[in-house]
Amino acid sequence: MRQAGSDDATAIARVHVDTWRTAYRGLLPDDFLAALDEAGYAERWRRTLTDGNGRVYVAEDGRHTVGFASGGPERAGEDGFTGELYAIYVLQEAQGRGHGRRLVQAVVQGLREMGLPNMIVWVLRDNHNARHFYERLGGTYVRSQPITIGSALLQEVSYGWKSLDDIRY
Ligand SMILES: CC(C)(COP(=O)(O)OP(=O)(O)OC[C@H]1O[C@@H](n2cnc3c(N)ncnc32)[C@H](O)[C@@H]1OP(=O)(O)O)[C@@H](O)C(=O)NCCC(=O)NCCS
Repeated sequence: MRQAGSDDATAIARVHVDTWRTAYRGLLPDDFLAALDEAGYAERWRRTLTDGNGRVYVAEDGRHTVGFASGGPERAGEDGFTGELYAIYVLQEAQGRGHGRRLVQAVVQGLREMGLPNMIVWVLRDNHNARHFYERLGGTYVRSQPITIGSALLQEVSYGWKSLDDIRY
């Protein structure tokens, strides 16, 4: 586990697109998933990694990037939350081996360094695997809201930890 730099943008984009295609099959439209543009995401991640807002961490298996997570200041003005886990993705073949838990630990350490004492995360309502993961970490349901992804109108739900000390690894 280590903090990512702009050199990691290409590998992060590869994990991002691969994991969306496996995790979101059946949740997001097939044509939307097929059209995900790895080069476009690499450019976006390069910008994110250089603009200095928030932190990004990568999980590696040997020299191979198998996951990443990002977090920073809460983005939507949600009452009671100042920190946010923005994204966490582990390649399907590397899931269930503790990378996700260690990525959350890394993001939480980053939030602490930024002086953010709590955390919220948003997840698609029907993404049951990820919801179990957050529930396993002790997250409590906050609320739900609609979200549009591509042409799909979906629902997302949030989980929160009122204190970073409440996270059960
Ligand atoms: C959700 C995700 C990040 C979890 O990472 P991971 O590396 O698979 O999880 P870990 O191996 O660290 O598991 C940590 C704990 O979470 C629980 N957990 C993980 N995946 C789970 C699942 N599919 N169902 C139920 N519990 C799960 C496990 O109980 C585990 O605890 P244990 O070791 O005591 O059994 C990863 O599976 C993933 O990237 N999924 C697809 C993308 C996604 O949905 N991302 C989140 C978007 S909001």
